[in-house]
Amino acid sequence: MNPGLYIHIPFCEQRCYYCAFTVAVGPEHTFEPYVRRLVRELELSGFGDVAETIYLGGGTPSLISADLLGRILRASPANTATEISIEVNPGTLSSDKVAQYRDLGINRVSLGAQSLEDEDLHRAGRLHKASAVYADFHLLRQNGFSNINLDLIAGLPSQELETWTRNLDKALELRPEHISIYMLDHEERSAWAKLPPGIPEENDFADFYAEAESRLGTAGYLHYEISNWALPGRECRHNVGYWTGVPYRGCGVGAHSYDGVRRFWNTTSLAEYAHLIDDGRLPTLGEELLTPPLRHEEAFMLGLRQACGVNVCAVAKALGIVYSPEWRLRVEQLQDAGWIHFDGTILRLTAKGRLAANSVIEELIWPTP
Ligand SMILES: C[S@@+](CC[C@H](N)C(=O)[O-])C[C@H]1O[C@@H](n2cnc3c(N)ncnc32)[C@H](O)[C@@H]1O
Ligand code: SF4
Repeated sequence: MNPGLYIHIPFCEQRCYYCAFTVAVGPEHTFEPYVRRLVRELELSGFGDVAETIYLGGGTPSLISADLLGRILRASPANTATEISIEVNPGTLSSDKVAQYRDLGINRVSLGAQSLEDEDLHRAGRLHKASAVYADFHLLRQNGFSNINLDLIAGLPSQELETWTRNLDKALELRPEHISIYMLDHEERSAWAKLPPGIPEENDFADFYAEAESRLGTAGYLHYEISNWALPGRECRHNVGYWTGVPYRGCGVGAHSYDGVRRFWNTTSLAEYAHLIDDGRLPTLGEELLTPPLRHEEAFMLGLRQACGVNVCAVAKALGIVYSPEWRLRVEQLQDAGWIHFDGTILRLTAKGRLAANSVIEELIWPTP
């Protein structure tokens, strides 16, 4: 598979209370200079003339004009991409904008619904109401978009199983091709660093997740990654690339890249990004060589999050690993306790294991073979 290209647009109208992504609440006149520098970074990066997928992520890429997005896409190998995705915040679209997206070749839209209940949205510091999700969804459909994702967050303050279930049913009524469900993450750098009252208990999170698995499964969605469900054939190709080790280039402030040998990442400071690009230099802040232990860790972290699991024999062969008797014993114990399933080649999380994915994956990495 050819590499993927990720473009980070950091601008947001307001920072949502839960969010710790690299975002900037900046005035509109800062958008154009940022895009100019992004185009320059693409030139400096030497990124080839083929991209399998392009992902315009944020921040809020739908906040900047479609003309500016067009400038970025014209500087990228967009004509070679089979999938061009954009993250859209409800309430930021118009008929003209959506038509321009279509003309630019954008063929997948990820709509950040978060919830379809106004109280949830208000408590989370979102600027839109549920009606904006419906309006934008229908606008996209009217303009021929046939590959739409909805992002939902489970476990927002005061959310109960009943309201969460209602949320799921409302999302399913729209019948998007893809649904991402994220359990509310407690982010140190978010406005909710000190958790607000009313965050559901851990057991409630498990119930929310189980309800999602059951309802989405019944509705025909495949649970292909721990947080992602898709109608058959509608998996996000760009993200599948990340999870299966396809190289990708990330451009823009805070973006990460992987060239098959090392990972490297850009500065998260807009001022430093501007300074380095204007100086004709790449805005790389750090890098990490993927040593065999890191590759092993990553194969398990990424593989186990996917329904297809991790091919332990292939990983062992590729990295020259012989698993120790202690490691095999731990695998047996985890299997007997119902957390994983291992057929001697493929190792997968069970439904119970998915609820405690991080701890189970850690158990399998440490003790390292
Ligand atoms: C990079 S954000 C950009 C999405 C877009 N700006 C929006 O808000 O609609 C992608 C998704 O991450 C999820 N997200 C962000 N912070 C989160 C948190 N603390 N816990 C769970 N999900 C989170 C949200 O569902 C969001 O839609
Ligand atoms: S969730 Fe989206 S809109 Fe809200 S601050 Fe994060 S990136 Fe911006």
